[in-house]
Amino acid sequence: MSGRETTERALAVHRLLNSQRPPPARVLGNGRRRLPLPDVHPPRADLVATLARRRSAYAYAERDLELTALSALLRFSVGVQRFVPAFGVADYPLGMAPTAGGLDLLRTYVVVRRAEQLVPGVYRYEPATHELAELGDTDPVPALEKVYLQPEFVPRAAVSLALTVRLDVAFDKYPLRHYRTVHVDSGVAVQNLYLVATALGLAGCAVSGFDDAALGDLLGLPEPEIPTMLFAVGHAE
Ligand SMILES: Cc1cc2nc3c(=O)[nH]c(=O)nc-3n(C[C@H](O)[C@H](O)[C@H](O)COP(=O)(O)O)c2cc1C
Repeated sequence: MSGRETTERALAVHRLLNSQRPPPARVLGNGRRRLPLPDVHPPRADLVATLARRRSAYAYAERDLELTALSALLRFSVGVQRFVPAFGVADYPLGMAPTAGGLDLLRTYVVVRRAEQLVPGVYRYEPATHELAELGDTDPVPALEKVYLQPEFVPRAAVSLALTVRLDVAFDKYPLRHYRTVHVDSGVAVQNLYLVATALGLAGCAVSGFDDAALGDLLGLPEPEIPTMLFAVGHAE
């Protein structure tokens, strides 16, 4: 079976599991406006102490997320770890969060309610260049209220990170059972987000309670890309 046929079958399973129809295409900006993120030093925190301190946060400070904190969180949890010659290219990116087969299928979107130097809206993280691609500058709060099944996360999270997976990339290489593995890939990234957020002194919480269609619409996802997890983040209260 071709990768395209497998992707179609996986999307059918995905829609069935989420009681979803094919999403209406809402195309956001092309992301041509790029905002470089500042260089940051890695947090100096003991690994086991960080594992022991990690919590899901339900109380957040009502203030802008500092740009250096956002930059460090993205860089050290879902940024590029190294470039290697692979898949026919000299500089193939491998992430701080590994994926099965090293496939470049995880994407991170940054939904900004309030963050330093960023207009509220939707951005896509570009790990290879450590930039944000601006997709839309509409206030995301009304959409987020439909996205979170627990709407109390909306006023908590200064920023909501959304992890997505490119099913077309997955099924160009692997058979249909890999639908499960892409969720494991996302889980690895979630633990990185928890640990790096903790090491940076940020408050964060993984959130799987979201409306798939509403989130796909907010992010303007193309059909073969599915949202897998949300991560609410802000400064600790
Ligand atoms: C994959 C995953 C999904 C989660 N989804 C939610 C969620 O939708 N809503 C929520 O309030 N907490 C969510 N949590 C947080 C868990 O409830 C929390 O991790 C658990 O109660 C243990 O608490 P701790 O993280 O402080 O150790 C999620 C955690 C994980 C790992």
